[in-house]
Amino acid sequence: SVIRLADYRPPAWAVEDVVLEFDLGIDHTEVTSRLTLVRQADEPIRLNGEGIELLELTLDGRPLGDGEYILANGVLEVAVDADRCTLGARVAVRPAENTAFEGLYLSGSRDRGFLLTQCEAEGFRHITYFPDRPDVLSKYTVTLRADRQRFPVLLAGGNPDGTGDLADGRHWARFVDPHPKPSYLFALVAGRLERISHDYTTADGRAVALHIWAEADVIDRCDYAMDSLIRSMQWDERTYGRNYDLDVFHVVATHDFNMGAMENKGLNIFNAKYLLADPDSSTDDEYRHVEAVVAHEYFHNWSGNRVTCRDWFQLSLKEGLTVFREQSFSADMNSVSLKRIEDVALLRRAQFPEDAGPLSHPVRPSQYSEINNFYTATVYEKGSELVRMLAGHLGRDGFRKGMDLYFDRHDGDAATIEDFLKSLGDANGTDLSAYLAWYGQAGTPRLTAEARYDATQSRYRLTLRQRTPASAGQTVKHALPIPVRLSLFDASGKALPLRLEGEATAGATERTIVLDGAERSIVFEDIASAPVPSLLRGFSAPVILEFDYAPEELGVLLRHDPDGFNRWEAGQQLAGLAYDDCRDGKVDGAAIGAWTRALAQLFGDPSVEDALLAELLTPPGEIELVERQPERDPDRIRASRQAMLRALASRIGVPALRARYEALRAATSAALDATSQAQRQLKRRVLDLLSLVDEAHARELARAQYDEAPGMTDRLAALATLATVDPDAATPAFAHFRHRYEGNALALDKWFAVQAQLPGETALGRIQSLERDDAFTLKNPNRVQSLLGSFARANPSGFHRADGAAYRWLADRLVAIDALNPQVAARVATAFNGWKRLEPVRRESAHAVVAELASRKDLSRDLTDILARVALG
Ligand code: ARG
Ligand code: ZN
Repeated sequence: SVIRLADYRPPAWAVEDVVLEFDLGIDHTEVTSRLTLVRQADEPIRLNGEGIELLELTLDGRPLGDGEYILANGVLEVAVDADRCTLGARVAVRPAENTAFEGLYLSGSRDRGFLLTQCEAEGFRHITYFPDRPDVLSKYTVTLRADRQRFPVLLAGGNPDGTGDLADGRHWARFVDPHPKPSYLFALVAGRLERISHDYTTADGRAVALHIWAEADVIDRCDYAMDSLIRSMQWDERTYGRNYDLDVFHVVATHDFNMGAMENKGLNIFNAKYLLADPDSSTDDEYRHVEAVVAHEYFHNWSGNRVTCRDWFQLSLKEGLTVFREQSFSADMNSVSLKRIEDVALLRRAQFPEDAGPLSHPVRPSQYSEINNFYTATVYEKGSELVRMLAGHLGRDGFRKGMDLYFDRHDGDAATIEDFLKSLGDANGTDLSAYLAWYGQAGTPRLTAEARYDATQSRYRLTLRQRTPASAGQTVKHALPIPVRLSLFDASGKALPLRLEGEATAGATERTIVLDGAERSIVFEDIASAPVPSLLRGFSAPVILEFDYAPEELGVLLRHDPDGFNRWEAGQQLAGLAYDDCRDGKVDGAAIGAWTRALAQLFGDPSVEDALLAELLTPPGEIELVERQPERDPDRIRASRQAMLRALASRIGVPALRARYEALRAATSAALDATSQAQRQLKRRVLDLLSLVDEAHARELARAQYDEAPGMTDRLAALATLATVDPDAATPAFAHFRHRYEGNALALDKWFAVQAQLPGETALGRIQSLERDDAFTLKNPNRVQSLLGSFARANPSGFHRADGAAYRWLADRLVAIDALNPQVAARVATAFNGWKRLEPVRRESAHAVVAELASRKDLSRDLTDILARVALG
C-alpha cells in the first residue's frame, strides 16, 4: 500500500501525556503504557502496533473486553464517546528474537549484551500501541525495572527522576522529559555499560552532565567523541545561538545498528563505527566521520527534535538542514575547501547515480510504500545542497535571522518545508517560495553555458540554459532557480573586475547570477581579451554543468584559481576530458597532455598544500566515470582510468615520486593534526602512483610501510596498495592484520572491506572464502556492509563480472539477509540500481536476476519496494 503526501490529515487524537513502565528481560519484556488522549476530530482512537502481544487494554481504568476494540493489520481501534480519556495497555515483546534491530532489541550476546531501542521512523509501534507518527507530540514519563546484576545501567531520554531497589535483586530508574516529542525520538538502554563524563555549562548557564557509554572493552576509545560533542555544543551556541535543554545528555555506542546514529531526545545512540576512535584502530577519515556524526546528532536537538517534521515526507526538513549544519561545522573545524571537495564528491558518487535511475525521487517525495527506504542521499545530501542555496541567497546574517525565526516560530511544532521557507523569507522581507520547486522535482538539472567573446567591443556574453531530464514517474520538468557564482580570469590567471551591461562601474571579481527561467544571457563589459570563466564556484547549485572548455582553459583555472574548491573542480573537469583520451586502449590527446602537464607542475610547486595536492591527484572514481559513456563496461572503465593514472605517474616521473615518498615517510607520525593527516593522505596517493610505474619498488615500500605504520591510516593504506600491486605478497600481511585485530570489530570490518574492494575476476572467489571466516556473520549490519556492501557498491569490476555469477550470488544472500533484517537487505539491494545502462551481456544477466527476485512473494516490504523500483530500470 502506498502512502501519499496529498492524503495528509492531522491526527484525530492528540496524546498529551505518556506514562511508560518497562519490566525488562532479554527474552521477554513487558511494557505498560498509559496515554492521556484528547480528541481533535470525530473519529475513533487508532493506535499502531506490530509484532507485539496485547495482554491487557483499559479505558479510564476499566478493562476492555474483546468486543470493545478492533485489532487488525497493525492497527488497534477503540471507539470512545468522551473528548478526553486515558487508555492503558500492557504488552509483551521479545527483544532477543528481534533481528531487524527496529523497536527494542539485544545488542551483542545473550549473556553479555545490552538492550536498546531504535524507533525512527516507525519502530515505536514495535514497543507498544501508539499513534506512531511524528506530528503527535507528548510528554513522556518512563520507568525502567530490571535485574540489577544483569542490567546495572538503566537509561531513557529526559531528566533523571529517581532510582531505587526492588525485591528479588531488581532495581528501577525513572526519567521525565519536559519537552513534548514524537514517538520516534523515544529511547531506552539497559545493560552493563561503562561511561566517560564531562561537566558542561551551556552559554545560557545550564549545567549539563555529558555521558558517553560503551561496553568495557571499548570505553577507552570514546574520548575523541566527547571532545567532538563539546565542540559541537559550543559551535551551535556560537553560530546559531542554540543551547542544550536538559540536565543530562547521554550518548551510547552499539555494534548492532542499522544506520549511522540516532538523535533520540537526551539519549543519542550511535553505531560504534561513528563513535569510537583511536589511532591504532581508526583511520583519519574515520576520525572526521566521528566528529561529523556526533555533531549531526547533537544538532538535531534543535533541527529535528525541538522542531520536528509534520510527516515523513518532510524528512529533509530535519535531515537536509542538519547535514548542512554538520557540513558547516566540519568546515569550520577543518578546512572549508577540503570539506566542500569531500561533500561534492560524495554527492556525485552517491546522489547523482540515485537521481539518474529508477530510484530517483524528489528531496520531498510525494509517495512511499516503505519510509525506511527514503533515508537516501537525495533526502540527506541533495537536501543539504538546497539549504546551502538558501543560505547563500540570504547571506550569513540573513540566514541566521531566518533560522532564529524558524526556531522561534516552530519550537514545539511538527513543521513542513513550506514553514521553513516562509520563516527564512519572512525574517528577511523576501519570498523564497520559488525554491519550493527544488523540493518537489527529482533529477539532476543540466546547466549549459555558452560563451561568445566580441573583441571589437570588448564584450563577453554568457548564455545560461537549464534542462532536467525526465525521471522515474515524473516526466514534466520545470525551470528551477539556479544560483551561478562566477568569476572571469584572463589567460595569465588574473581574476577580472566585473561590470555587467548597464552598470556604471566595475565591482567585485565574483558575482552570483540566478538563472530562474529556461535561459538567461548576461553581458560583461570592458573585457580586454577572451576570458576563462570559472562557473558555479563553490558548487553553488547541485547541477551538472556543461561548458565546452578547451583543456588549456581548465589548465589556467587548475593552476590559478585562488578558490581551492574550484581549483579542484577544474582538475576534475580536465580529468574527465583526459579520461576520454584514454578510452579503448589508446592514451592520446590534448586533454591527457594538459592534465598530466598541469599536475606534474603542481606536484613540484611547494606552494600547493599537501592535502589539496592529494585531492588534485585523485581523478573521478570508476563510479563517476560511468556517467561519461552511454553503456558501461566496468572492466574497460577501470582499465582506462588506470591508463590515465599511469600516464600521470610517468609524467611526474619515478625520481620525483620516490623523493616525495621518502620525504613524507621521514615525517611519519600518528599525530592527528591537519598537517600530519595531509601528509598521510598525500603519501598514499604518491605510493599508488608509484606502484603504476615502479612496481617492484612500490611493493617494497608498501611492505615496509605496513610494518612501520604508527597508526591505522598508514597501515590500511599500505595493505590496500600491497594487495593491488601483488595479491600474493599481501597474503601474509592480511593474515597478520587479522590476528592483530582479533576481537576488534571495527578493525575487522576494514579488513573485510579492503579485500572486498580488490578489483577484477578473482574478487567473487575471494568474497566467498571471506564469508567462511569465523568473524563473518549476516546478522551484523556493519559486517554485511563491509563485505557485501563494499563488494557490490564499491568494486564495479569485481561485482559486474561478465558471467553474472556475482549477481546470482548477491541475490541469494539478499534473501538470507532479508529474513533477518529487511532494512539492511534493502540497502544492499540498491547495488542493482543502474543495471539498465550496463553493456548488453551484463545487462541481460543482471536483469534476469533482478526480475526473478522482484517476482518473489516471500520478501519484506523494504526489499520488495527497492526491487520493484529497480526492476523498472
Ligand atoms: N535520524 C537518523 C539520522 O541522524 C537516521 C535514522 C534513520 N533510521 C532508519 N531506520 N531509517 O540521520
Ligand atoms: Zn540526521
